[in-house]
Amino acid sequence: MKFSTLIAPFAFASVTVALPVMWPFCLTQGDANDIVGKFITVLQHTNINAANATAQALIGPNFFEKSDSINMLAGKPVGSITTPSKAEYINGVLFAPSLTGITTNKVLVAGCTSILWYWNMAGVGSKQIPVTGFNLIEITPQKQIADMYVEFNNIGWGIDIGFTVTDYTGAQLPTA
Ligand SMILES: *[C@@H]1O[C@H](CO)[C@@H](O)[C@H](O)[C@H]1NC(C)=O
Repeated sequence: MKFSTLIAPFAFASVTVALPVMWPFCLTQGDANDIVGKFITVLQHTNINAANATAQALIGPNFFEKSDSINMLAGKPVGSITTPSKAEYINGVLFAPSLTGITTNKVLVAGCTSILWYWNMAGVGSKQIPVTGFNLIEITPQKQIADMYVEFNNIGWGIDIGFTVTDYTGAQLPTA
């Protein structure tokens, strides 16, 4: 670890700066697998209290979620923050039906402090359309989830939860 390069910028400051013990850090593949594995158990929440305890430890205090895929489904403005807080996110997930049939296609460490999780969820609602998507998960130095950017096949998700979607000819999706 190059502490010299980290500390040098502070050398001219007259105050003593307490450096966070885990900074700088770089996520390992094991860290990423562990975080995604725990996150999946929260989505599944087969036991609400256990999932809540996992979520409280896993998710950072300043958490937010941003997703136009969800904004469109939920009737929120495109480009807006989808879920503004840790508490709202955790309660939203725990009070929603358990997400089953989750398959991880890839878990990638992205630039030391983020994880890219490429997933498929075959158990949404009516289960008609297996939904594929990505979560870009930013991680704090304490290895908690700082925030999350989520985009997925929201037409498929919408159909699974009862939306009727038509193409420009009026044909009901899915047409293939
Ligand atoms: C999860 O735990 C928090 C903190 O203890 C609590 O405020 C919240 O109500 C719990 N949520 C659920 C769904 O049990």
